[in-house]
Amino acid sequence: MAKAKMFKINSVATFPNVFQNPHFTQPSLINSAGEEMDLKGVWNEKVFGNRHPLTLELACGKGDYTVALAAKYPERNFIGIDVKGARLFTGAKKALEANQKNVAFGRMRIENITNFFAPGEVDEIWITFPDPFPRKGDAKRRLTAPSFLQRYRQICTPQATIHFKTDDLPLFHYTRDMVVEAGLPLQYYREDIYAAPLEFEELGIQTYYEKSHLANGRKINYLKFSLP
Ligand SMILES: C[S@@+](CC[C@H](N)C(=O)[O-])C[C@H]1O[C@@H](n2cnc3c(N)ncnc32)[C@H](O)[C@@H]1O
Repeated sequence: MAKAKMFKINSVATFPNVFQNPHFTQPSLINSAGEEMDLKGVWNEKVFGNRHPLTLELACGKGDYTVALAAKYPERNFIGIDVKGARLFTGAKKALEANQKNVAFGRMRIENITNFFAPGEVDEIWITFPDPFPRKGDAKRRLTAPSFLQRYRQICTPQATIHFKTDDLPLFHYTRDMVVEAGLPLQYYREDIYAAPLEFEELGIQTYYEKSHLANGRKINYLKFSLP
């Protein structure tokens, strides 16, 4: 493994705002002191010390939405989730340097999300530029496949909103279809968001992957739905 990547993986384990699921087959989390923690249902109480609404950014990579939204909404809590520690390193370091008390990161597989969040614990989810898994045989791995929507439903409040941003039009259409087929209210749907002035500010937050897609001339699409 490259030295820089190894450094990030080792460093992120020492960050007080990062909680890792070291063995993906076991439902346990460890903190920066190496202590095992059960945070299911108590993230707000034990990590943030308040009862503010909780937003997750799934497949967060470097945590761009987590860090930007947390700065904009200090009265909310934010957790970026990704399986790759070297990517979480960037967001977690930024949050520590900015002394953001309303930010944490979880290194875990989204498949296992219900091991770590209790029913009704989550008020909002952002899913930003997930892997598209274009082959039909891989459809169940897409983060908006029915089995994933079911997991989100288990951990979210009935009022929760799910925001979804992607450059991949087939994945965008697939997600719209899965939402409609599941009978979930599609609250907003826009292909090529930058073709017209943005209707709300959060849409303009650009992730690492989004910037790269824009530089390559790709269009960005956004939809949101709820999980009543
Ligand atoms: C294309 S990158 C997008 C990263 C970031 N959202 C962005 O826009 O810059 C997809 C991310 O999803 C993460 N990922 C893919 N499958 C995952 C899973 N099952 N559980 C957790 N993270 C996953 C990868 O590690 C990667 O960081």
